[in-house]
Amino acid sequence: MGKEKKYRVVSMFSGSGGLDLGFLATNRAEIVLANDINKYACESYAKNIGNHILCQDIRELKNMPQADIVIGGPPCQGFSTANPNRSFDDPRNWLFKEYARILSESNPTIFVMENVSGMVTLEKGAVLTMILQELEHQGYKVQYKILNAKDYETAQSRRRTIIVGTKKNVTSTYDYPPPVVNPPLFGRYKTVGDVLLNKPINGNNYNHDIAKLSTLNENRIKYIPQGGSMKDCPVELQNNSDLKRAMRRLHLNEVSPTIVHNNNDHYYHPTEHRRVTIREMARIQGYPDDYIFYGPKSEQSRQVGNSVPVPFAFHIATSVINYLDETGK
Ligand SMILES: C[S@@+](CC[C@H](N)C(=O)[O-])C[C@H]1O[C@@H](n2cnc3c(N)ncnc32)[C@H](O)[C@@H]1O
Repeated sequence: MGKEKKYRVVSMFSGSGGLDLGFLATNRAEIVLANDINKYACESYAKNIGNHILCQDIRELKNMPQADIVIGGPPCQGFSTANPNRSFDDPRNWLFKEYARILSESNPTIFVMENVSGMVTLEKGAVLTMILQELEHQGYKVQYKILNAKDYETAQSRRRTIIVGTKKNVTSTYDYPPPVVNPPLFGRYKTVGDVLLNKPINGNNYNHDIAKLSTLNENRIKYIPQGGSMKDCPVELQNNSDLKRAMRRLHLNEVSPTIVHNNNDHYYHPTEHRRVTIREMARIQGYPDDYIFYGPKSEQSRQVGNSVPVPFAFHIATSVINYLDETGK
């Protein structure tokens, strides 16, 4: 197998393509098919990455192409094993079932499934066991590990379960990417300051609308230091929300807390009295500035918040490419 061979990737639950961009950044991957059900995510994906995305329910996907790699994590919200049969026939579980179907049709050598870290403890681990068993039934050795994006050149703490499956009949072993930084032993974490202040956001104003604050929030934010939250406001300005989580202001010298889709209460800027913009969230997620997010603002926020950070995805992708190069020797 030549070193420059490009591997064929099928991307499921692609969203705006954070994971896909990481694979493309290796220059060793070609995405032959992507899929998402959300029309705005598909629009962003198509206009920024390519029109190989099919915008439809995964259940409707037919004639799947052969692939070396399948990537993508089925959302597990609402996934429950309360059903005593714990069956994949349970309609709540069909997204995993569909993922297994895609594996059986595209027949990749390796697959990567990303999910929230909490999935390993859902139903006291029974959900994870069921998923691993189902994937093993497709002929894969399956392993999982929780990785944190901050260890992989991302200015954000984001713990995610990374499930990797490799064909049972292949003898090479897959190794998760080792941390790129591990302070104080080596390197330092990328900080909010590194990504927000490294270059000004001007010439590119896409996705950089600054939301207007209510007078009450304007008053509150003045009291909140970097790394602080509503707990730092005078009592008369507090409300009954979770004071440590409401109105969190990012710290320039630290990694960001996890970027999530939160329509009306994005984190606050470290030094300016305002919320961060979609563009600033995207920077923390490692998207390039020329990536434009489409759809209403709440949908842009959803796309950014749902994404695998691009640098994190790049290091996962590199480990996958290394595995495939090894198997091809
Ligand atoms: C966590 S996001 C994926 C993020 C993506 N991996 C990235 O790095 O940007 C999960 C995606 O699954 C999509 N999705 C949910 N149900 C779906 C279905 N039935 N068929 C296809 N896609 C679906 C959602 O629209 C969402 O974009």
